[in-house]
Amino acid sequence: MVRAWILTDEKRLTPKYITLEEVYKNSGVEYYQIDVKNDYENDQLLKNLIDERDNHHIGKVENLDDNDLLEHVTEHFHEHDEFRLVLEGCGYFDIRDKYDIWVRIELFPGDLIVIPGGCYHRFTVDDKDSYKGLRFLKDYGYQAYKRPNDELGARKDYMRRLYNGAYD
Ligand SMILES: [Fe+2]
Repeated sequence: MVRAWILTDEKRLTPKYITLEEVYKNSGVEYYQIDVKNDYENDQLLKNLIDERDNHHIGKVENLDDNDLLEHVTEHFHEHDEFRLVLEGCGYFDIRDKYDIWVRIELFPGDLIVIPGGCYHRFTVDDKDSYKGLRFLKDYGYQAYKRPNDELGARKDYMRRLYNGAYD
């Protein structure tokens, strides 16, 4: 069961968990499950998502050194959707929701999330030596735009979609 919770500054004894439906509604972040133990490269759901969104630029996220970790943990967005699939270990994806609040999503092998273009996010791992994952982006326009970059069209379009109920 995938867990997502709100990262608040206030001191809480327990995390404020939210459902994946709430995550989607407040950010447009999608969640899927892929069977990574069996020939996942031919998984029909994964193939369909890649073709549908034209995300054929596949990168391995593993053997992370301090520079990689710093890059991943720096808040940014892309112009287009980014997929992240966990193969081994545990990864934490933090995404900024509609209210600019951090929501942390804890992912294990087989978990795939789609982060919409224009949505600020960052990533970290439980243990850098055991984490292995993949990211899927477009062959064009996979650049990361660090915060603040609110004037970019992709960011404005995303905010428009969020506030016009595109994910309701
Ligand atoms: Fe990213």
